[in-house]
Amino acid sequence: MLGSTQPTIHTGADHDMSKPKVFVTRAIPEAGLAMVREVAEAKVWSEQLPPPKSVIIEEVRKCEGLLSLLTDTIDTEVMEAGENLKVISNYAVGYNNIDVQAATERGIYVGNTPGVLTDTTADMAWALLMAAGRRIVEGDNYVRALKWKTWEPQLLLGTDVCEATLGIVGLGRIGQAVARRAQGFDMRILYYDMVRNEEIEKSLGVEFVQLDDLLRQSDFVSLHCPLTDETTHLIGAREFELMGPESYLINTSRGPVVDEAALYEALRDNKIRGAGLDVTEVEPIPDDSPLLKLDNLVICPHIASASFKTRNKMATMAAENLVAGLQGKPLPNCVNPDAVP
Ligand code: GLV
Ligand code: GLV
Repeated sequence: MLGSTQPTIHTGADHDMSKPKVFVTRAIPEAGLAMVREVAEAKVWSEQLPPPKSVIIEEVRKCEGLLSLLTDTIDTEVMEAGENLKVISNYAVGYNNIDVQAATERGIYVGNTPGVLTDTTADMAWALLMAAGRRIVEGDNYVRALKWKTWEPQLLLGTDVCEATLGIVGLGRIGQAVARRAQGFDMRILYYDMVRNEEIEKSLGVEFVQLDDLLRQSDFVSLHCPLTDETTHLIGAREFELMGPESYLINTSRGPVVDEAALYEALRDNKIRGAGLDVTEVEPIPDDSPLLKLDNLVICPHIASASFKTRNKMATMAAENLVAGLQGKPLPNCVNPDAVP
């Protein structure tokens, strides 16, 4: 919880009683905020840390629209308070922070930002895969620690990415974009998904296998599934055993898909060779997480969609969803179009 009870909020617009009120839970790029302000009286939470839930609840009481981030838990408690809420626009493709069913039951539309961050996120998965396989961060640390004395035959040996086997878990938009990158590296590409898509198999040259087979056969396993009850701890101790000591795990999806305690043990005991994470079970990762002591882990602070272009585009898409919802029009990107206001 934040210490201050007096939140820093900028209205940024003239008091205009005719405009609907909205709460924006963080300062998203101006491209989106400007669109929101044109049609709504916007309050923007401008702190670095997310607003406490009590603030969100207080604000939604007065609002017809909410623009939220994946760090905000938008559950029934928030929706009960937001009696006049018409739309919740999430500044993300993922929406596991929102109780969508509860929103649907209340006739509140929920929007997200799919598509625009597909390639940006696939780039990040690729960067983590390359960094883990070729020990980029360890190499950087080594040089800065002034340990580089000569060219050594066996210094920082890693794993070839080209011609290796890649296992993609979840062949949605992002999984497919990762497969396209893998084609350029002449990889054998396996995938597992709840639904098999033979058309995409042909066009991308990917092979469907059951999850256990994917884990056994892949050198690199990259996760691209949404977080659901079924995918929580999808990868744990048993799965690391199947992966084996020469394999790597890459996670740019959601932290809880991986059992992090099991990941720690697998990395510590060299049951797998390395991992690249952009997400963790608890975000931010706790200061005392043992993962932070491991050399065979590359970790980033959930920045897979963080390019200038993509974050601007996400802001305008989130604004478009919000504005449409306020005006009673269909959201350009709606995750619960069956909601009935
Ligand atoms: C980021 O993780 C997103 O879901 O957009
Ligand atoms: C996100 O764009 C996905 O993979 O569904």
